[in-house]
Amino acid sequence: MNNQSRSTPKVNSLFLPRRGFLLLLLTVCVMLYILSWMNNLQFQKTANPAFIPQEHQSFCAFRPISSKESLEEKKILKSITWPKTPSITSNYTFENSSNPLCSNFTILPKVGEGGQWYIGDQLEVSIIIKDYYCYPKTSGGDVLLASLKNRDLQAGVSGQVVDHLNGSYTAVFPLVWEGQAEVEVTLVHPSEAVTVLQRLNSEEPDRINYRSIFRSGSVSETTECNICLRPSKRPVCDFTDVRTGEPWFCLKPKKTKLNCTNRISHKYGVFVLNLQKEEKRLFQDKINMKTPILAVGSSSITVYQRKTGPVMLRSNNVKTAASGFYYKGVWKSLGITEVQQFDTAAIIQCLKGKVVHMYGDSTIRQFFDYLNKALPNTKIINRQNLARCGPFKAEDRKNNILVTYRCHGPPIRFLNVPIQDLCYIANELDSVSGGASTVVLIGVWIHFTSFPLKIYIRRLMSIRSAVRRLLARAPDTIVVIKTGTPQELRTLFDALTMSEWFSLKHDKVLRALFKGMNVHLVDAWEMVLAHQLPHKIHPEPPIIKNMINVLLSYTCPKMHSENNL
Ligand SMILES: *[C@@H]1O[C@H](CO)[C@@H](O)[C@H](O)[C@H]1NC(C)=O
Ligand SMILES: *[C@@H]1O[C@H](CO)[C@@H](O)[C@H](O)[C@H]1NC(C)=O
Ligand SMILES: *[C@@H]1O[C@H](CO)[C@@H](O)[C@H](O)[C@H]1NC(C)=O
Ligand SMILES: *[C@@H]1O[C@H](CO)[C@@H](O)[C@H](O)[C@H]1NC(C)=O
Ligand SMILES: *[C@@H]1O[C@H](CO)[C@@H](O)[C@H](O)[C@H]1NC(C)=O
Repeated sequence: MNNQSRSTPKVNSLFLPRRGFLLLLLTVCVMLYILSWMNNLQFQKTANPAFIPQEHQSFCAFRPISSKESLEEKKILKSITWPKTPSITSNYTFENSSNPLCSNFTILPKVGEGGQWYIGDQLEVSIIIKDYYCYPKTSGGDVLLASLKNRDLQAGVSGQVVDHLNGSYTAVFPLVWEGQAEVEVTLVHPSEAVTVLQRLNSEEPDRINYRSIFRSGSVSETTECNICLRPSKRPVCDFTDVRTGEPWFCLKPKKTKLNCTNRISHKYGVFVLNLQKEEKRLFQDKINMKTPILAVGSSSITVYQRKTGPVMLRSNNVKTAASGFYYKGVWKSLGITEVQQFDTAAIIQCLKGKVVHMYGDSTIRQFFDYLNKALPNTKIINRQNLARCGPFKAEDRKNNILVTYRCHGPPIRFLNVPIQDLCYIANELDSVSGGASTVVLIGVWIHFTSFPLKIYIRRLMSIRSAVRRLLARAPDTIVVIKTGTPQELRTLFDALTMSEWFSLKHDKVLRALFKGMNVHLVDAWEMVLAHQLPHKIHPEPPIIKNMINVLLSYTCPKMHSENNL
């Protein structure tokens, strides 16, 4: 960990008479003002039109968007506003923060039908969050996850948590299988930790930093790069993508033999930790980060099948709107597309004559790896690519199947990506001709969590525009979007760089932006939350297998009815 010194001057350590102190303070302020003004000028000179007045307080660059998109962005940001959360102060201490070990949940009894639960019912659970004195909290904003499981049946479904903003929450679940169902509630973060995360994303969006190597012959130099590059006196190289307008900057190398054109690689640099001791206590493994909350009374119920024929389990039947559930380890959709099971033969049959383009982070690469392994005759092209960023191609010539993978552009947190391999998904999509035998899978999420949400929103908007162009020229193209997932949070590093609180918001943004479009969703969020395997940034093979089944069910929806004939 590298504790970088920030440019804040430390005047308070100087012993000066009062007037001298004030004068010095004034001078420093004026100097800082002039400096920041000069830096802004310098930034503007690097031709970044995104520095429009309302973004002035941030040192991040935001891709310019249309006024229509801007309205949409405002609407989305408003719709996902998190409740106001407390800060740790001298009066409001760590002991006043949410404590999972004192918090409990209660299953609310079924009203009517002799108190018996049936498939198709909705289960409600009341969660009361308390502090370290075991006093109930009076404000909301805690990050909670809830699921309903039966480990023997390998069944599971995710719940939705409603915040009543007074320290109490309700989790709601659809009842979708017969037998035992056990409620699991997890406190991901106390609300006080959200205050910290929120502050970090506006004040320290560069806490993960990036580097580029510049080289010319035997001369080389590494400099810092970012979307959110702190103003400094050093000149900046503007690597903003001309086509998408996606901003990216690096400090210009100091060595005179090097200039901006000499950039050869991109990598994810160090993590800068800037937290108070009391703030760090809000992110403790097994204490208040991803810690289970226990039940008062029983944590499970028994669900029966109604005698009056089968119940339709479509998501519009249940208020909870779960997109699916596991039964015997197999994901079943509650939506329109029935999920089929694809063994190797079925994968080949489905993908014969097709090309599957995958774009995104390493969780999308898991899909590529899965198909590459499942298809017997593939040969990966470009295997020696150490950054594992792609471009990769797995080709099964016998069956005329092509699967490709490319990682998304900066701020991708991969190591040593050659500049030639960096790309933006929107630009890649523009080179896809598309059609009924083309499948496009897109997943972008975790590498954006440390930045202001607008950066993610605008990246997705640019991808969405490219998807619209693709669907306009080739309406039969199968476009599938994968959401983010819950994951393991063990360390402060995990929390500050990829907390589920960020992911939850990203998930909502993604769904809002692609709503109503002719694209399909792999609801990876629910598919991990509902599964009994532990949450991991890279979900385990049984979960990926189910995700692949969802992807292929969108690709080959007819196979099922053919099989049924
Ligand atoms: C903290 O408590 C003191 C006295 O108990 C009070 O004067 C002060 O306003 C409180 N500060 C905050 C931030 O609540
Ligand atoms: C913190 O908890 C203590 C003990 O319950 C309580 O007296 C105090 O009022 C709480 N502080 C705040 C700001 O709620
Ligand atoms: C919190 O709000 C909910 C919903 O308004 C209400 O039912 C509940 O009684 C409240 N709890 C407390 C402790 O005030
Ligand atoms: C940058 O350096 C390259 C050689 O390394 C040179 O060809 C080019 O002219 C330089 N560009 C500028 C703008 O100085
Ligand atoms: C609430 O859960 C805690 C453990 O998390 C347990 O010690 C406590 O007894 C529970 N409270 C009740 C009323 O059951």
